[in-house]
Amino acid sequence: MKLGVLISGRGSNLRAIAAAARDGRLGGAEIALVLSNRPGAPGLAWAREQGLAVCELPSAGREREDYDRDVVARLRAAGVELVALAGYMRLLSGVFLQAYPGRILNIHPSLLPAFPGLDAQQQALNYGVRFSGCTVHFVDESLDGGPVLLQAVVPVLESDDASALAARILEQEHRLYPEAIRLVAQGRVRLQGRIARLAPEP
Ligand code: GRF
Repeated sequence: MKLGVLISGRGSNLRAIAAAARDGRLGGAEIALVLSNRPGAPGLAWAREQGLAVCELPSAGREREDYDRDVVARLRAAGVELVALAGYMRLLSGVFLQAYPGRILNIHPSLLPAFPGLDAQQQALNYGVRFSGCTVHFVDESLDGGPVLLQAVVPVLESDDASALAARILEQEHRLYPEAIRLVAQGRVRLQGRIARLAPEP
């Protein structure tokens, strides 16, 4: 299964996914394209160094649907079948969602539906929860509201600030995202309304 990874920044989840693909932990999925909407995203430079196919497509000032049509064209040209948003700081239009129905994943640094949107780790601290974590979910038109695929829980410590909590969550993100992609690539996920049903290991 050909994978497109969309980023806007650092790209640590991209690295984790690439490492899993290299080690055969991605159910046969391979990265066919890394696309960044922000020029100069560090993750893009890294992908280039690795010899991955990359596309820098600046989104600043572009109308959402028009931009997404361009993104979809690039993904299709690369044969992408599954899209993984990995720190991609942009809402998707209907144009994108309709081009890849049930085929777009995102990772979010909270236990959704708690704390959608920006600064999820700070939101968790402000609320005073004892546990937070991360969620891989299918993307729909809502903000971080599509069907949940996998979640991992981490404790929130008294001593945490947002960056300490983010680092603890990120460790789990790097484990969880490749695992989620593997499940989809192996054809073990079936969407039933908003419930993602998982088939057992073959
Ligand atoms: C991660 O915390 C992810 O959950 C969120 O954005 C951050 C991206 O980090 N959506 P990176 O670019 O993968 O390092």
